[in-house]
Amino acid sequence: MAVTTQQLMQWKQQGRKIVALTAWDWTIAQLLDSAGVDVILVGDSLAMVALGMETTLPVTVEEMLHHAKAVRRGVKQALVVVDLPFLSYQESPQQAMRSAGRVLKETGAMAVKLEGGYPAIAETVYRLVRAGIPVLGHVGLTPQSVHLLGYRQQGKTKEAGERIFAEAEALQDAGAFGVVLEHIPADLARRITEKLAIPTIGIGAGPHCDGQVLVTADLLGLSERKPPFVKSYVNLRETIGQAVREFCSEVREGEFPQGSE
Ligand code: KIV
Repeated sequence: MAVTTQQLMQWKQQGRKIVALTAWDWTIAQLLDSAGVDVILVGDSLAMVALGMETTLPVTVEEMLHHAKAVRRGVKQALVVVDLPFLSYQESPQQAMRSAGRVLKETGAMAVKLEGGYPAIAETVYRLVRAGIPVLGHVGLTPQSVHLLGYRQQGKTKEAGERIFAEAEALQDAGAFGVVLEHIPADLARRITEKLAIPTIGIGAGPHCDGQVLVTADLLGLSERKPPFVKSYVNLRETIGQAVREFCSEVREGEFPQGSE
């Protein structure tokens, strides 16, 4: 059975942890889906891991749609969520509706994610959800605000923590089906997770969230640089580099291909 937003809420109630990973193309999406990942996020981090951009800011709606279509073709079970890129939703609820509508209509993805929880964003989430567009929120470290916040841990002071708490609650009240908590103290993430009825999905937010998400390039050891809270389960940069060096050497030495067909 394909994963739904309602299923994620039930899993929270049952204490069944949610597994989420990012994907940027068909191959990665197929691999994640067949390995049993619950939520596949076409994150705007693809700007950095797939397009070589310095930050997530330059990626466009068109580029997100292009990658999301490829990902969607590779997924049979997981819930596919697509990030709305920087300045494709902050201007007005109407702008957000156009961007999110394109994501659902043109890619076949089931939901969108957007960053922030301040009143104008909560209002936008409210309108999108009323129009039938499921929304995943994202608070704490929000990479689209890198030039304001940097990549530092957020919510360290009592005041900053309370602000993030209030944003997460506002997103729930607006109808978001879940919220990503990025790079905040574990205790703050625990308090938010206990208070909210919707699932929290953490990244660098400790073990108490209802689920965990990682950027797949980091998990696979493909990224040149990665945040300190990431665990790489394999070093594919090394493995791929080694395989390619071997190929170069075998071609140059006349060892590949062997014999005649
Ligand atoms: O863009 C992304 O990959 C994300 C995850 C880090 C949650 O937003």
